[in-house]
Amino acid sequence: MIIAVDGPAGAGKSTVAKILAKQLGFLYIDTGAMYRALTLKALENDVPAGDEQNIIRLACAVKIELRNNADGSLSVILDGRDVSLDIRKPLITQFVSDVAKIKEVRQVLVKMQRELGSRGDCVLDGRDIGTVVFPGAQKKFFIDASAKERINRRFKELKGLGQDVSEDDVAGDLSNRDKIDSTRKNSPLRKAPDAIYIDTTDLSIEQVVGKMLGFLK
Ligand code: CDP
Repeated sequence: MIIAVDGPAGAGKSTVAKILAKQLGFLYIDTGAMYRALTLKALENDVPAGDEQNIIRLACAVKIELRNNADGSLSVILDGRDVSLDIRKPLITQFVSDVAKIKEVRQVLVKMQRELGSRGDCVLDGRDIGTVVFPGAQKKFFIDASAKERINRRFKELKGLGQDVSEDDVAGDLSNRDKIDSTRKNSPLRKAPDAIYIDTTDLSIEQVVGKMLGFLK
């Protein structure tokens, strides 16, 4: 069974998708982490996000592994190296949407995502899972929250990771990525017509997971 979880930045998709996968005993696939890992590889190779030809070249050669740990956490392995924390850094966040809008990059990563998803039951989270990667997914969710709440959640999360960010930085990043992700030509962020929309603004993590489990019964 495939469960698709899409939505804008900072809505809490990854948090609830990860918990849901653990509770169901499904594999968890964080597709955003794959775009982030490729962005890290590009920056480490001094390839700017605007250099599409070289980014595509890197995408064709990159090895990204998503390891589901026993404690429910996810390790992201880029060419054999654990980059789970590095991919959350501000510089990666700043450029990831420019990398993710490149058509050929999406073709390569979507192929990887379909291969991972074909291995068995899984929960995938991203922007285009229900619309493009697995349009035939048995269950689709679109997780949303007000802009204010999304800024608040992401700010707390980054502070928790020890990052020195301001609320204004976070607000700027979210609105920049929302704009690029939802207006790009290739696979823009959209709610699939058959996805269940959940506004999580006033809900706790447990309440959101509870709702999702309720729809799965
Ligand atoms: O920060 P957040 O966790 O909300 O984002 P993410 O899931 O880590 O994704 C980072 C970026 O990757 C997004 O802003 C999109 O530009 C891109 N992305 C995408 O284009 N398609 C996906 N399926 C997942 C992520």
